[in-house]
Amino acid sequence: MKFEKNILGIGAGYVGGPSMAMIACKCPAYKVTVVDIDPLRIAAWNSDDLPIYEPGLDAIIAATRGKNLFFSTDIEASIRENDIIFVNVNTPVKMFGVGAGMAADLQYWEKTARQILQHSRSSKIVIEKSTFPVKTALAMERILSNNKTIRFDVLSNPEFLSEGNAVNNMENPDRVLIGFRETENGIKARDILVEIYANWVPRERIIGSNIWSSELSKLVSNAFLAQRISSINAISALCEKTDADINEVAMIVGMDSRVGNKFLSVSVGFGGSCFKKDILNLVYLCRHYNLNEVADYWEGVIKINQYQQERFISNILNAMFNTITGKKICLLGFAFKADTGDTRESPAIFIARRLLEEQAEIVVSDPKALKNARADLAGVVGKVSYTEDPYEAVKDCHAIAVLTEWAIYRDLDFHKIYETMTKPAFIFDGRNILDHKRLFKIGFNVYPIGKPPLVHF
Ligand code: UDX
Ligand code: ADP
Repeated sequence: MKFEKNILGIGAGYVGGPSMAMIACKCPAYKVTVVDIDPLRIAAWNSDDLPIYEPGLDAIIAATRGKNLFFSTDIEASIRENDIIFVNVNTPVKMFGVGAGMAADLQYWEKTARQILQHSRSSKIVIEKSTFPVKTALAMERILSNNKTIRFDVLSNPEFLSEGNAVNNMENPDRVLIGFRETENGIKARDILVEIYANWVPRERIIGSNIWSSELSKLVSNAFLAQRISSINAISALCEKTDADINEVAMIVGMDSRVGNKFLSVSVGFGGSCFKKDILNLVYLCRHYNLNEVADYWEGVIKINQYQQERFISNILNAMFNTITGKKICLLGFAFKADTGDTRESPAIFIARRLLEEQAEIVVSDPKALKNARADLAGVVGKVSYTEDPYEAVKDCHAIAVLTEWAIYRDLDFHKIYETMTKPAFIFDGRNILDHKRLFKIGFNVYPIGKPPLVHF
């Protein structure tokens, strides 16, 4: 079958897999190939056991795989055969050398740029989809311009999907952003990308900007979202001192339509692969340009996030008579948020490690993230076990710490749970999702975030 367009996605992770699958699903006349250097990942995408858990994704893969969506490890041939290339490789925080702990590690990205340069035999449009630091597109253009006979047009098209809700985000995006150069070829490339998205996204939501605004907007969007969470989490500390209730405060503040009510849910801290990394990138960029006050301002968002996690541990220790040595604590939830198996930067990792340092015994429970949790805690010193069934997990525990807002945790039979726990039984609700008064009546000592605790002594 002859396809209208041949599209390649390089990198088959949390961004590349779903976003390329969505294009295949919405554009049956295009052939979409997704490649990755990791053969196990590609094998998983070609199996019934997809490498990532994302609600609704299975159905999209089932409808497209083998028809117009193909997963392959043949990166070289795929580069040759496709004229539109989305770059979805990972850009973790650099852990060594200049910018260690702050700047983005661009080795995967640069390798991809060089591979595209080496294997291309015809002109290409290269689209940055992963989040890159500002001016990455420029560096990409510089590398690609080493081939004087082939044209490469570089676009920035950051992905705004949020895990657990990715399918809906991609089907009904608030906006699709395309950063392009205002040159004849830049505009042509932009129009080709617009044509792809226009298969399902209303034209007025497909917006253009210069490439640097596009790259920066992605970092800033995540920084603003994270800032809201740190703002509400910071106020939760004050609520705990003043007997105000953070849920009431968040509701009242959020009812001002200028503020809005989204992203004001108090928590044990934000996690995920993006927020911390993108803010660190922003901070690094500001320091690079000597904007130290601006850098300090955004760094505060990360500091509060760390503080919130430390506070959670202090609250556990204080409540449990300043010692948890030998006590058994169940972590309900390990994923960084509900509806995903992803644990990258999950506050649960820090909480688990700290509890183990205090020589508590921990039982980790999560409906989707146990495999990742095992990898995250591999090699830690201390007693850790893993149980998917929450009723099994809480048996004989002294305390429960709710770390992920999985809907199933709201509806657990807490009478049954209380019966099986060691007394006095404690619940630390790191997401404020439970019915605290009810739990208190059952007999628990309840410690929400940003609200007065409900204790029996
Ligand atoms: C985020 C952005 O939302 C998305 O647009 C971008 O493309 C990638 O980064 P994601 O990391 O998947 O998406 O999840 P998100 O829903 O933003 O949550 C991030 C973290 O913040 C989670 O740990 C979540 O539990 C926490 N959070 C979110 C809160 O603590 N309170 C809130 O009110 C909202
Ligand atoms: P993200 O959340 O940004 O999608 P992931 O780590 O989930 O990040 O996915 C990035 C993917 O990119 C990984 O599967 C990794 O193997 C892949 N990758 C990294 N470098 C290359 C490369 N040069 N060529 C192809 N795939 C790559």
